[in-house]
Amino acid sequence: MIKIGTDLPGPSAGRYLEAAKRYEPRSMSDQVPLVWKRAWRCYVEDVDGNVFLDFSSGVLVANVGHSHPKLVEEIRDQADKVINSYDFVNQYRPLLAQKLVEITPGNLDKAFILTTGSETTEAAIKLARRYTGRYEVVAFQGAFHGRTYGALSLGGKRSGAATKGFGPFLPGVVLAPFAFCYRCVFDKEYPGCGTYCIDYLDWLVETETEGDIAALITETYQGGAGSIIPPKEWMQKLEAWCREREILFIVDEVQASFGRTGKMFGFEHYDVRPNLLCLGKGITSTVPLSALVGESRIMDVLTPGTMSSTHGGNAFCSRIALKNIEIIQEEGLVENAARVGGFMMQRLKEMEERYEVLGQVRGLGLVIGLEIVKSKRTKEPHVDLAKEIVLQCYRKGLLMIAPIGFYGNVLRIAPPLVITEEEAGTGLDVLEEVLRECSG
Ligand SMILES: Cc1ncc(COP(=O)(O)O)c(C=O)c1O
Repeated sequence: MIKIGTDLPGPSAGRYLEAAKRYEPRSMSDQVPLVWKRAWRCYVEDVDGNVFLDFSSGVLVANVGHSHPKLVEEIRDQADKVINSYDFVNQYRPLLAQKLVEITPGNLDKAFILTTGSETTEAAIKLARRYTGRYEVVAFQGAFHGRTYGALSLGGKRSGAATKGFGPFLPGVVLAPFAFCYRCVFDKEYPGCGTYCIDYLDWLVETETEGDIAALITETYQGGAGSIIPPKEWMQKLEAWCREREILFIVDEVQASFGRTGKMFGFEHYDVRPNLLCLGKGITSTVPLSALVGESRIMDVLTPGTMSSTHGGNAFCSRIALKNIEIIQEEGLVENAARVGGFMMQRLKEMEERYEVLGQVRGLGLVIGLEIVKSKRTKEPHVDLAKEIVLQCYRKGLLMIAPIGFYGNVLRIAPPLVITEEEAGTGLDVLEEVLRECSG
């Protein structure tokens, strides 16, 4: 349970916060000043003994909960055996690849194990280019696919602080409008619009590409842009659009997979089949590991030695990933995410009715976005209020990530998938109290 026994940040936190300020680039963090000491299930204890309820899962990593005892046991045991094994075969990497192939659609029959999410999107683009012999890529406005240069080039907000001034980016990337129906760039309404943004893709291709498109990459739901959930029809039409043009359909589920959305993989909500699938974060719930799962006709296009990685697929991380997937399945965490997510959504929808500043509540399973606006009518983003809400929640013992979103006004709720309805309800009580106080 939540326990706040000191002023925040507490007396012991100061030393670490000072050191972070003095020795780390300020670009590092925009989070509330919580210095983590220990974490378990959906709780985080700071260095002053305060206990917070975690609505962040780190950053959607700790799907099985922080420091799950079975994972800790596995980590201890493997640490004693071997950790790094470069790209020599070890006892776990091939089994992890096998497992990923087994739990994904039948067309995905090989898996390349890496370390970070960004590496998977980079690898997907390299493979798509080599496989098709084409170079252009369609990505989406608002998208986030990582921070390394290739991945950044697929990102959908060039004027944003994380991108501006870094260009020129990878040539050949064109950005299409995502199905952000709450703020439709065409000022249309779904479903009356007839998914006009899909029809628009042909115009975009005709005007902004040479018609040499290798792939289209999309997140299942846009995470960084503010937990934007596209309609099922849109995703299905998007897949069909790619198939008809023989364009590879890449789905980036670094964030949306391993139960987060109430299905093992987010794309299962849409009944689509990616040609390449990017995975990360919740794949281990702990240590850094990511994977690109794909069709062997694409995956095997590169010759031996041309795509490998120093840390990717090491014995240690691979073993943890395997165990993590086992825990998700054994403990029914996908089902729990759907159940508790449904409960939270219902309460949040009631709150949406009550609070003028709550422009829209949207979500799938245990990833929920709250649009904080100045008024429901104008939908003007209220960035300062969003920040204030996160800060006040922290003061009352509820941990959330700094606001996200295209405009920085979206609160993200993404607790570990082990959270119970009762715990989720406690967190929402705190959030509602803060909303009441902050929105006057
Ligand atoms: C959809 C998506 N793709 C890629 C990434 C990049 O992952 P990483 O930070 O592990 O490189 C993220 C990280 O937030 C993400 O949400």
